[in-house]
Amino acid sequence: MRYTRASVEEDGRYLASTAVLMSEIIKTIICLGFLYAYLPRKQRSFTQLMAMLHRELIVQWRQSIKFSFPAILYLVQNNLQYIAATHLDAATFQVTYQLKILTTALFSVTMLNRSLSHRQWFALGLLTFGIGLVVLPRGSSSIEAGEPTLGNQSSVQGILTVMIACMLSGLAGVYFEKIIKAPAVRQAPSEDEERQKEAKKEDHANAEASQLWIGNIQLSFFSVILGLVFVVALQDGPVILEKGFFANYNVLTWVVIGIQASGGLIVALVVKHADSILKGFATSISILLSSLISVCVFGTTVSSLFISGALLVIYATYLYGLQ
Ligand code: C5P
Repeated sequence: MRYTRASVEEDGRYLASTAVLMSEIIKTIICLGFLYAYLPRKQRSFTQLMAMLHRELIVQWRQSIKFSFPAILYLVQNNLQYIAATHLDAATFQVTYQLKILTTALFSVTMLNRSLSHRQWFALGLLTFGIGLVVLPRGSSSIEAGEPTLGNQSSVQGILTVMIACMLSGLAGVYFEKIIKAPAVRQAPSEDEERQKEAKKEDHANAEASQLWIGNIQLSFFSVILGLVFVVALQDGPVILEKGFFANYNVLTWVVIGIQASGGLIVALVVKHADSILKGFATSISILLSSLISVCVFGTTVSSLFISGALLVIYATYLYGLQ
């Protein structure tokens, strides 16, 4: 993402809003594919798939409308991600983006009445300190020498954008969890009974897996609609009319869109099947990979402050997830 945004001048860049929208459309298609695959063998047909969507999205609209709130938060967050990647080097972006562990924790405490252990509070403090080391402005000799160093390209706009994205990520994640775990208020009990009967016949694992994909379709459904209305129609409408929806797209743009779409679905799978320690490991690997690739692709060097800050963030992430 950083490469596709930073390697061209502003008027040669693809529109982030259309890229976010395309990711959501791809996610919806992938979820539909999984949902189809998880239908019981005898009922596996396009009509059954449509009937299921009708039931989940239209008949149970009171339940599905709840997904519109996290959908809009994720939509804004995903757009901000592109802005942040334009203003920050990839590794600094990855490290600062871990502030979402703090925001998620704070929203979990306030919205889900969850309590954190002393170790977790300590880890959150360490995390914030580590991020501070990476992003705080400093008069580096390498900057004076004109040599790009990780952490030194931080701009106030980039950092602020990441912070807002982290707030949205925390709120959306906690709210999504709240909806998924709250007992659903169903509109049509007869439909529900019918569904329960069907579910009994189904393999239990299949039914559980379907629920994950249905939740994500509900999320993406609102993201696509809201994305079309707010972002494309209101924000970038004139540019799209003038240059086209896919203006300045190339193969790499599609790679970024594909990574964003699969990354989003993997987040959903990680939340469901893995635990926070594994998520922490994945995060740590992503920070190390971003730093390594930044060095190889952009020829950046790594300052000792960046290394100290990044190591603190990786350790804090691990400490936070420890049970
Ligand atoms: O790491 P974080 O929780 O902020 O990841 C959020 C990303 O994952 C967003 O891009 C969001 O669109 C995506 N996501 C998703 N399905 C979920 C949860 C998050 O596609 N169930």
